[in-house]
Amino acid sequence: MFDSTNNNGEANSIPNNPESIDLRVRIGSISLRNPVLLASGTAGYAREFGSLMNWDKIGGIVPKTITVLPRKGNPPPRTVETPCGLLNSIGLDNDGIDYFISSYLPELRKINTAIIPNVAGKSLEEFGELASRLAHEPGITALELNLSCPNVSGGIDFAIDPLLAKKIVNLCTSKCSHPIIAKLTPNITDLLPIIQSVAEAGATAVSIANTFLGMAIDWRKRKPILGNQLGGLSGPAIKPIVLRMVWQMSKVSPIPIIAVGGIGTLDDVMEFLVAGASAVQIGTANFYNPSAATKIVDELPKAIQELGYSSLREVIGVGHQ
Ligand SMILES: Cc1cc2nc3c(=O)[nH]c(=O)nc-3n(C[C@H](O)[C@H](O)[C@H](O)COP(=O)(O)O)c2cc1C
Repeated sequence: MFDSTNNNGEANSIPNNPESIDLRVRIGSISLRNPVLLASGTAGYAREFGSLMNWDKIGGIVPKTITVLPRKGNPPPRTVETPCGLLNSIGLDNDGIDYFISSYLPELRKINTAIIPNVAGKSLEEFGELASRLAHEPGITALELNLSCPNVSGGIDFAIDPLLAKKIVNLCTSKCSHPIIAKLTPNITDLLPIIQSVAEAGATAVSIANTFLGMAIDWRKRKPILGNQLGGLSGPAIKPIVLRMVWQMSKVSPIPIIAVGGIGTLDDVMEFLVAGASAVQIGTANFYNPSAATKIVDELPKAIQELGYSSLREVIGVGHQ
């Protein structure tokens, strides 16, 4: 052991050995072995990774969004690469809640990491139904609500309407005792009213954020490239914007923030922790570097030690001090 000081000038007793750095995080009632999660839609239902992932290492997986009924998703092409980013318009292609419970969930339970199913309803009632169906399923650490999808009756995304977002979280917390994480859309000017609403309704945390609305055009063909015309932009291109959102919101948010957006390296993760995120999700990076998440977990202790801390918790929000 050697002594050091942290950013407050307080003496710290720093373990020499990076292996003794404590990576555990608590997000309300959610306990994770470390803050590195895989983001919904970029890690399938775990089976797609085959032997490429060491599940014992990462903090958890958020499987692809599930809906009440199976969905075919949007017409192809569904993805376009852009400079430093990826546009997708998958359209919530999934096999529905029955298949998730009977086929995917039993497999997910076998891997040694936190399982955080992600659900999306087309209406308030559908969100309630999905929460009820998962309420008594064992092996679930928390439930993430994908609020960045259109409300069929009103046509707008749930996560741009604070009242509706509040109703959804209220209903889901009443139906299901798993901690609720509200995943927000970044396609909004001010996230705070939404965060306040979902916090009042009992959400344990918010995930910031889903993809940014964008598009690509093939000018020679004189038309949009994506079958759905519009898509969501993700990857390194969006990181500075999401980092700004997390920085601003962590100062005022009544609940913890899980950061999602362009995170693919140790530096990205450390930046988001310093900005105030309690955990992170790795998304698009899984496609070009399936070992990104495990590599980051390996590298985290040394970075924390470099700052003079002995636990990851001490890094969260330290940039605001
Ligand atoms: C191909 C693809 C599919 C996605 N599917 C979902 C989904 O089903 N549900 C969801 O909540 N987010 C989905 N997302 C959004 C990601 O979970 C994440 O919020 C977003 O991509 C930003 O993080 P990133 O820049 O690290 O990818 C998807 C993203 C991509 C690229």
